[in-house]
Amino acid sequence: MNAQAPLPEIPKDRLPRHIGIIMDGNGRWANNRGLPREHGHERGADAVRTTVRAARKIGVEALTLFAFSSQNWDRPPTEVFHLMQLLNRYLVEERAEILDNNIRLVTVGQTHRLPEYVLEPMTNLIEASANNDGMVLCLALSYGGREMITDAVRKLARAVAAGTLEPESITTKSIEAHLDSSRMLPPLDLLIRTSGEHRISNFFLWEAAYAELFFTEVLWPDFQRENLIAALRDYAGRERRFGLTSSQVEDKEEEGT
Ligand code: IPE
Ligand code: IPE
Ligand code: MG
Repeated sequence: MNAQAPLPEIPKDRLPRHIGIIMDGNGRWANNRGLPREHGHERGADAVRTTVRAARKIGVEALTLFAFSSQNWDRPPTEVFHLMQLLNRYLVEERAEILDNNIRLVTVGQTHRLPEYVLEPMTNLIEASANNDGMVLCLALSYGGREMITDAVRKLARAVAAGTLEPESITTKSIEAHLDSSRMLPPLDLLIRTSGEHRISNFFLWEAAYAELFFTEVLWPDFQRENLIAALRDYAGRERRFGLTSSQVEDKEEEGT
């Protein structure tokens, strides 16, 4: 993973600044092969490595990977344990590559719920990579979109109760300002979900308001650079209107050029 290699067929200004991926299908991948679900998660970790590398080379500004949801804690304890072990291994083994490639690691989610053996290498790498500006890699860990919005609303409610905030001053901007994602990441442009499921499963609920959605049948362990490029090609051909008309969007683009 050396110099940045943008895709010749996609102009830089048609690339998403921030991609989110719901990495789904590890269990089915293993099941299809008569293997325990854990094998699927291990192969899923390989797909993470491939995807991070590809996104960095292509020149994406930020990549958020939905790795573990708030609801995934309710899976069988042995599976949760295995996922935590894998996370630890990923953070330890990828440390050098992340640092060498000028990638900044951040996280979103209720990370205080993670075990110490994950928190320790995670915090360490977040700190060590804090000044990197090549790409932001955000891991969504113990993450739930509803939980994040609830936390933000609770903070605002506290300020109202303390008399430092008027309820009328609460705006979409002030709610957004209390979401970690808005402090650390550009707006979400493209949301990819693998494994043929067509749902958001409590991922970036707020952030996905105007994201372009891309669904693929590919199971996460089979996800390759080519699959990412297919999503980017699709994205590059879309018109994002944000509630406006097509001609308004065209006028705006002309003004901007
Ligand atoms: C995604 O794969 C990984 C996590 C949610 C942690 P799954 O484990 O959900 O795989 P399927 O959906 O059962 O195939
Ligand atoms: C979403 O996948 C969570 C992650 C990819 C981490 P799930 O497999 O947990 O979602 P559902 O159960 O299919 O909605
Ligand atoms: Mg799943």
